[in-house]
Parts: sequence; structure tokens; C-alpha cells
Amino acid sequence: MKYLKYLFLSLIIISIAACSDEDPDDMMPEPMIELIQAAFTIDISDSDPYTAIFTNTSDVSGDYTAVWDFGQGDGEVTDMSDQISVRYPEAGDYTITLQITNEAGTTSASEDITVGDIGICTDGAVCTGLPALQSAAPFLVGMAVATNKFGDQKYMNILRRDFNSVTAEWQMKMNIMHPSEGVFSFDAADAIVDLAEANGMNVHGHALIWHSATPSWVENFSGSDEEFETMVKDYITTVVSRYKGRVRSWDVVNEALSDDAGHPLRESVFLQRMGPDYVKKCHQWARDADPDVLLFYNDYNIAGVESKRNAAFDLIEDLGDLADGIGAQSHININWPSAAQIQDLIDKTVANDLLLHISEIDVRTNTEDNASLSSLSSAKAEAQAAKYKEVVSLFNAMPTENQYAITVWGLRDDQSWLINFWGVPEWPLLYDASYQRKLAYQGFLDGLE
Ligand code: G3I
Repeated sequence: MKYLKYLFLSLIIISIAACSDEDPDDMMPEPMIELIQAAFTIDISDSDPYTAIFTNTSDVSGDYTAVWDFGQGDGEVTDMSDQISVRYPEAGDYTITLQITNEAGTTSASEDITVGDIGICTDGAVCTGLPALQSAAPFLVGMAVATNKFGDQKYMNILRRDFNSVTAEWQMKMNIMHPSEGVFSFDAADAIVDLAEANGMNVHGHALIWHSATPSWVENFSGSDEEFETMVKDYITTVVSRYKGRVRSWDVVNEALSDDAGHPLRESVFLQRMGPDYVKKCHQWARDADPDVLLFYNDYNIAGVESKRNAAFDLIEDLGDLADGIGAQSHININWPSAAQIQDLIDKTVANDLLLHISEIDVRTNTEDNASLSSLSSAKAEAQAAKYKEVVSLFNAMPTENQYAITVWGLRDDQSWLINFWGVPEWPLLYDASYQRKLAYQGFLDGLE
């Protein structure tokens, strides 16, 4: 009986369809139109850190309208493009809202940004209300720079805002400036010195001689020892003279001491070809080329290894008035060196009437449990900030006549040499990979209080 009823109904539908000129499919109920969930992303313009680029990532289909409120009090903007750029010239906190409306109704999404004096910050980064490092510090605050980053507006904004001294991370070393016999290449060095001068920044020259940045033609020099020495003298004289009055200080021989027991002079082609007084000869040539330039002996583990610290001061003592300062590279970690070790470095610097340059500071966090960190935990970020604060605080407390500078070895965490060197993730600097200030930045400032 039931089947007869269905058969009868089907016959009715078919007969209606046959009578009407409509396609049977058209008579099927319209699919439900669903709400479109509003969503968007925020990027900061590479060319202008005060311009945000908003991308509508809503899963749009069919007819819809997209209405933005950029939080600047200028009302709503209906814009159907996928991306829209908006400039935020004024510091402050802003809430951006996107509303998507279709037949099914309206949804909205909101994101907050903060605009500080280095541009837009997102993700709650430490951004506004913080002074620039160079404004807060009574001493030079430097950064290791490289010309391949000079086209990045955010990099340049932060460099100009936070720092008043630069060190070439690698482009003022012998392998770059004297790439082959009789050939000098100063393009990168000139660009760095020009940039610094244009921005009223100090330039610290790094490094005239370094066993790890010696060009192969020097390593394999075919001439006599006397010709070798003449070549080195010519190189130092040429470079220091070129930048006389423009580069205020030089690391003359970087890392001359070995880490062997007693820290003898490191084996190098310079020691082999010029003898154990090669360091003093190099300092003399630099001084002859620019009587006003400050000459530093720069090395690593100067704070953290007492025997090497003592050996460094002995070497500097032998140099007499040919050395004006000591550079403690300070590639350290959150647990090392101790405050006492740093203080001993400071005390010996003062006792020897020298300048101290904390010349390459970065603070490793991923050094425990087999470097197992895959991201910077808040605990490690706090510990890193505390270590920066400790170093800055101890340096800040020393007599001003003995303070040269604190130079951070790079800007962004992801650009640090440590990552390739150790082959593990690391976040050693003051800014993260998105140019956002980290707690370490706050730690640096706290050390100045
Ligand atoms: O960016 C160029 C790339 O364009 C090019 O294709 C490539 C091959 O030539 O070189 C790249 O530049 C490299 C640069 O690091 C950036 O990665 C240089 O070759 C490389 O030599 C350079 O290494 C530098 C290293 O000193 C040697 O000069 C590191 O950046 C720098 O952080 C490191 O710094 C040293 C200090 O001078 C002394 N204290 C230890 C510290 C760490 O080793």
C-alpha cells in the first residue's frame, strides 16, 4: 500500500514537471548560503615600518562586501581587494576590524597593533614607550652591520634609532679589503663608513689582522719573510690611512692568543713569518698611519676564562702606549660568565687605564639539555634579559673614562652567526626575526638605570 502512495506522488511530480517548462533540477531547493567567516592577516611593509599591509584571508565566495575599520577614527572603508596598505604615522594602540557581509549575514574579525617610535609592532611585542638604546646609554651603543641589509628600511630605522656606533661584521677584514696581492677592495668598507658618517655614528674598525679572515694569497705568500712583513705593513698603512679621522678605533690583531695552556700566541702565518713581536709591529704601523686612532686588542672568553683574561692584559701591557683598549667579544650565554668574572675584567681594565669595549655581545640561550630548544621559552627569555642587564649594569657602573662601547653582534636573532656556527636554533640578540624588540632589549635598558 505504502509503495502505491509513493508511486502516485512521483507520478504527480513528474506530471507537474512535464507541464511546466522548468528544468526539474531547478526545482531542487537552493543550497543554503553560508556565512563567510571574516579573517585577515597583518604584515609590516618592508619599505616603511609605519605601514601595515592587511590581507583579507576570508574564504569568500558569491556576492559579499568587505568593510574595514582601521582604527584611526577615519570611519569604515568598503574595499573588496585582497590586500590594502594603511599608514600609521602616530604612535599608539589600534584595533583593526574587518566585516564580511553576504546574504547569510555579517561576521567580523579584529586584530590589535601597536605603533611605537620604530614603527608598527604586532603580537604584543615590546614596542612603545621605550627609549632608544643610544638615548638611554651614557656610552656608545654599537651594532655589527653588513651592507647587504642596508636596503631594508626596518633594519635602517632601528639602526639609526637605537645605535650610535657600528662595527663591520665581516666587510672590513683582510680577506675582503685585500682579496689578492696588490689589490684592495674598499667598496663595502666605504659604504659602512659613509653610512655611519651620514648618521653621526662612530665607526669601530674590525679587524686589521685575524687568522680566520686572512686571504689565501697571504696564507700562501710566496715571497720572503721580509717581503711578507713589508706587505703587512703596506696593508695596515693603506687601510688605516684611508680611514684616518673617519674610523675612530681598530681591532688591530684579533684573537692573537691561543686557548692552549698558558695562552701563548696562536699559531698563524703572521707569527710564523714575522715572529712573536708581530702584534706590536702591527700596532706600531696602525699608530704611525693615524696617531689619533684608538687601538684595541680584541679576543673572546676574556671575561669567562681568567687565565685568558690575564694573558690578554699581559699582551696589552707589552704593547705599552700602542694599545688604548681591550675588546671583550662577549659571545656569552645566560649562565656564563658570572658577574664576578665580568667585574674582574672591568677592574683590570681600570687598573691598566684602558678603554673597555664589550665588542660583540650576544647571549646564547640554547646551551643546556643538548641544545634541545626549538623556540625561545619565556623562562629563557627572562634569563637572557637578566644577563644583558647584568653586563650593561656592570659596564655602566665603571668610570666613564674607561667606557668605550657596548656593541651587539647583529640586529635580529635569525641573522646571528651563532645559528650556523653551532648548528642549533638560537635567539641571542635584542630583536626577534620580525624586528620586534625582545625582553632582552628591556634588559639592556634596565641595566642603564
Ligand atoms: O652574505 C654573503 C653572501 O652574499 C655570499 O654569497 C657568501 C659567500 O661569500 O658570504 C656571505 O657573507 C658571509 C657573512 O658571514 C654572512 O653570512 C661571509 O662569507 C662570512 O665570512 C661571514 O662570516 C663572518 C665571520 O666573522 C668571518 O668574517 C660572520 O658573519 C661574523 O659574525 C664573524 O664574526 C666574528 C668576529 O669577526 C670575531 N669574533 C668572532 C665572530 C664570530 O665568528
